[in-house]
Amino acid sequence: MRRIAVLTSGGDCSGMNPAIRAVVRTALAKGIDVVGIQRGYRGLIDRQYEMLHHQSVSNTLQRGGTFLQSARCKEMMSPAGQAIAVETLEGIGIEGLVVIGGDGSLRGAKALHERGIKTIGIPASIDNDIPFTDMSLGVDTALNNICYAVDCLKDTASSHDRTFVVETMGRGSGYLALTAAVACGAEFALIPEVEFDLDAICEILRRRFKDGRNNSLILVAEGAASAKEIADQIKDRIHFETRLMVLGHYQRGGSPTAFDRLLACRFGMTAVEALLAGESGKMIGLTKSEIQLTELDKVISEKTRPIDQMLVKLGEIMDR
Ligand code: F6P
Repeated sequence: MRRIAVLTSGGDCSGMNPAIRAVVRTALAKGIDVVGIQRGYRGLIDRQYEMLHHQSVSNTLQRGGTFLQSARCKEMMSPAGQAIAVETLEGIGIEGLVVIGGDGSLRGAKALHERGIKTIGIPASIDNDIPFTDMSLGVDTALNNICYAVDCLKDTASSHDRTFVVETMGRGSGYLALTAAVACGAEFALIPEVEFDLDAICEILRRRFKDGRNNSLILVAEGAASAKEIADQIKDRIHFETRLMVLGHYQRGGSPTAFDRLLACRFGMTAVEALLAGESGKMIGLTKSEIQLTELDKVISEKTRPIDQMLVKLGEIMDR
């Protein structure tokens, strides 16, 4: 293998830069050229790429986002778009590709593998909804970002006897809302995986108030409900002074945590080694602290990553 390519695709997250760096430096150490594809699969469609050298990834380890940039590329879902992508890769002599991204990006990786491009995926999405890995890149940094924000809100909530409703990202996954609720001692986490009863929540809030616990925090995953509606409903039903915070894209940025940097290094190096060993159509994952490879077929056909019931229990026992 003489030349490989790397791209970051879908929603960006912290940890993508260190993963690119690990891919580049591992490949260069083995005498392999690396091409960086710009803006994910869009760069394959529009033929935008650059050669990456040792220096190209200097000073990127601690930076959030992705210096190659990312995009959500609809064309990659169609056979015509995939054919252009293969043409671009073959045109520049790419013998192996590393795709860093979430669920949709891994589907693209699988399509390229099926079209004969040796491809390895690295899971990267703050949602932590990708199966066959305990953690995806970016999750730990996003969780720490949320914890920082929620701790700040707790200070002001307790100074004013207020209920704060905080919306986290996670269209189909409550991982961030639930783990942040446990890590920050929030009273409730409303997540798409578990039904909730707002009447019961209001009752608990009222009971807490009677017991002298006058401030509360409710974390809402965006896929479970609109935080604004929850805040309005609480105000209407029990007349609590309520404030709203939608954390939005703040969660996705910032310097990657040490955990994400180390995970990115391990994922990136393993991806290159896997390509050199002749592997393709697989995703690198972290299972019980071990780095493992799983067929992209299996990753994609598995519906969702189940929510950890211990976290649900912890949330109920520790914080009400
Ligand atoms: O999939 C990652 C994610 O951050 C989701 O949690 C969120 O719903 C979505 O991306 C936001 O997408 P965009 O950056 O395109 O607005």
